[in-house]
Amino acid sequence: MILIQILYLIASVLFIIGIKMMNKTKEARAGNLWSSVGMLIAIIATLMQINMVSITEILACIAIGSAIGLYYAYKVEMTQIPEMVSLFNGFGGLASVAVAISDFWLKTNVNMLSMGIIITISIILSVFIGAITFTGSMVAFLKLNGKITGNPITFKGQHLINLILLLVFIGASVFAGVNQLDTTTIIILTIISLLLGILTVLPIGGADMPVVISLLNSYSGMAACATGFILNNNVLIVAGSLVGASGIILTQIMCKAMNRSLINVLLGGFGQTVTKLEEDGPEIIVKEVGVEEAAMLFDGASSVIVVPGYGMAVAQAQHVIRELYELCEKRNIDFKFAIHPVAGRMPGHMNVLLAEANISYDKLIEMDQINDEFSNTDLVFVVGANDVVNPAAHTNPKSPIYGMPILNASKARTVIVSKRSMGKGYAGVENELFGYPNCLMLFGDAKQTIGKLVLALKEL
Ligand code: TAP
Repeated sequence: MILIQILYLIASVLFIIGIKMMNKTKEARAGNLWSSVGMLIAIIATLMQINMVSITEILACIAIGSAIGLYYAYKVEMTQIPEMVSLFNGFGGLASVAVAISDFWLKTNVNMLSMGIIITISIILSVFIGAITFTGSMVAFLKLNGKITGNPITFKGQHLINLILLLVFIGASVFAGVNQLDTTTIIILTIISLLLGILTVLPIGGADMPVVISLLNSYSGMAACATGFILNNNVLIVAGSLVGASGIILTQIMCKAMNRSLINVLLGGFGQTVTKLEEDGPEIIVKEVGVEEAAMLFDGASSVIVVPGYGMAVAQAQHVIRELYELCEKRNIDFKFAIHPVAGRMPGHMNVLLAEANISYDKLIEMDQINDEFSNTDLVFVVGANDVVNPAAHTNPKSPIYGMPILNASKARTVIVSKRSMGKGYAGVENELFGYPNCLMLFGDAKQTIGKLVLALKEL
């Protein structure tokens, strides 16, 4: 038994080291590996003490699960990662519910034991958080892949229904705590929690799903933590707490970078409506630039900062941007990438795409480090980014994005923006940068236009 606890301790330390290493892009892959080794040790230690099911059954389940996981990991597109994470979270939540209910069943109906208050509370919490995580994540998954509308789904009395369900849940839990948790109560508690998961995520707009997913990720950790108490399993308690805490920190970082409160996200509706003020705002008159002219601007620049955004991910323009970067390096142009914390649609979205295109990590500079450099830069190339460079965040107190930290791209000598049209970004607001005297629009799909730009630059 002591050996198992030591193995669990080693696994927990490896999880912590792994998470710490994920702080730096350079070390993130290695961090992932350290954590995976920790998980392997935890699994081995757990297998050493199983007595309920045979090792063959467990290995068969691991093989089936791993095969499905591997298949999807290879098949999934970069832009579908949030969907995949939401499935992971959901199944994590479901596993917690399954463990909690089976433990309840085992203790009360098989071993005929009466449960202590700690175990009762742990089972109730595990069912509550796990079931909300499961159905909430499924709704988030369906919204993200377009199987159900991404618009907020609201109906009259929604908040009242949620409140009533919550009160019934609390009442039934107290009853179970005072008396004894029985089969009927646990069924009621599970059904209410499943419904609450659906009802709380339905009113949230599809575009806010990444924040919701990060929150649900945190919930799945908390559910696992509660399950750890049920099973008296230390490694599950540690791993669950780590996931719970890191998920909530990530949610906070995302909300802060979007200048929104978590409550505002959970109430939904953002990005769906354009305020009257936006519609009535001054007309933005833009200047277009052609590929040849843009190539000449690159040729004449001694410093370039690329600001990637969601459009780069949609166009999959990262590889062609790498070609541009190599050409500029050859011309001794100082070339960097400015990374906004919420550029794209998931945390680290731009870092992952640029790393995939083999852009060296030290060229990716975080917003706080690079913001002062824009005013001394010859050329800023905005690729499919919109909200993260919108000066309205500083200049227009009535704008929905006012107060959001942005990249000061507008301060550069010249700004070229690659996007397909005057389409708005995620926040659904106009971008006054596009009308600035130093800003030029390079219209077209980012991958195609930058491909042409690279050819034009090669000929100069
Ligand atoms: P956005 O403001 O969403 O703008 C993306 C722009 O890309 C659009 O204006 C679009 O314009 C352009 N685009 C789309 N497809 C393109 C293509 N094929 N080629 C070229 N351009 C294309 O992106 P952003 O600046 O990255 O900002 C991210 C937004 O998402 C922020 O508001 C942030 O708060 C929000 N958000 C982020 C996260 C995370 S964690 N990253 C999570 C939730 C929400 P056209 O249609 O005209 O081409």
